[in-house]
Amino acid sequence: MTSSAFPPAIDFSAIPRAQLPLLLARMPKAELHLHIEGSLEPELIFKLAQRNGLTLAYPSVAALRAAYAFTDLQSFLDIYYAGASVLWKEEDFFDMAWAYFERAHADGVVHAELFFDPQTHTERGVPFEVVIRGLHRACTQAQAQLGLSAALILCFLRHLSEDEAFKTLEEALPHRALFIGVGLDSSERGHPPEKFARVFARARELGLHAVAHAGEEGPPAYVWSALDVLHAERIDHGVRSVEDPTLMQRLAVERVPLTVCPLSNLKLRVVHDLADHPLPQLLEAGLVATINADDPAYFGGYILKNFEATFAALPQLGPQEAYQLARNSFEASFVAEDQKQRWLAALDAVFAAAAQGGAI
Ligand code: ADE
Ligand code: ZN
Repeated sequence: MTSSAFPPAIDFSAIPRAQLPLLLARMPKAELHLHIEGSLEPELIFKLAQRNGLTLAYPSVAALRAAYAFTDLQSFLDIYYAGASVLWKEEDFFDMAWAYFERAHADGVVHAELFFDPQTHTERGVPFEVVIRGLHRACTQAQAQLGLSAALILCFLRHLSEDEAFKTLEEALPHRALFIGVGLDSSERGHPPEKFARVFARARELGLHAVAHAGEEGPPAYVWSALDVLHAERIDHGVRSVEDPTLMQRLAVERVPLTVCPLSNLKLRVVHDLADHPLPQLLEAGLVATINADDPAYFGGYILKNFEATFAALPQLGPQEAYQLARNSFEASFVAEDQKQRWLAALDAVFAAAAQGGAI
């Protein structure tokens, strides 16, 4: 990862706050915490259900959307897994991912590392290769048609057993070249990272990157064990780390990125108001925090909406923090150093122009 945490000589105080909306939209950014199944919009759920001859439990798009009133992570997961059950064919996975890439591109995303949950599909009888072929084809097209680079991270569902995770890793191995890492998601409470110690060790032996959801609903202890037991290189969410000053210090010193998802935290009641979100504390403590969408079709917006809502709710965040968050997203990504430097140079150019009163 890039070690430089120091912005170049950009005079952030010269950038008027009124420029913020344009900067948030135009600044190049990477998205590192996006469940592709969580980008499945109700309209596409209905279209795929019809295409696959399925009847949904909801009579209309509006009725389905009205059911998106969550009280916690589990209440969301129940409906999220039901939504994903319309995905059966390679084309379905392609269409879902392509719809995401078009939206991400419009939001200024130049690089995306997407989570996918193969067990959600293989458990229903969809072959692993159908899932990954459809997703991979969309990634290839995103690079070719949008200039958006994309990579896939295979997530294990933590409410299932480690044996089932091993079976999934085994099924994935013939397609090893099509994904860059493994992650851990689904119901956090009661499913600590330790449960997956051996499968993560095996994945790391295979040269895969390791990331894990921790400290979303679960305690800071889960962040510690994601680091010490799974050797996670990034923590997904991790917002409850603010409860543990020693952990905060470790994350800052070791420059372990946190992929923070503000609208998700609001909708799943991890925070009660965006004005209380700990993002400013994370940045002040020098953590490599990033902003991401998590499950945009369910939480009210894609990455730009997450930036806009967060900056609107937290007036202490201004142009310098926008720059830092975009910079962090490249530092935290799993791309080659020379590519990171090209994106960072493009980012610097946007803010340097804004500071000089030029067009951005
Ligand atoms: N799967 C999809 N979204 C998730 C989240 N926010 N936390 C855990 N697992 C998930
Ligand atoms: Zn997530």
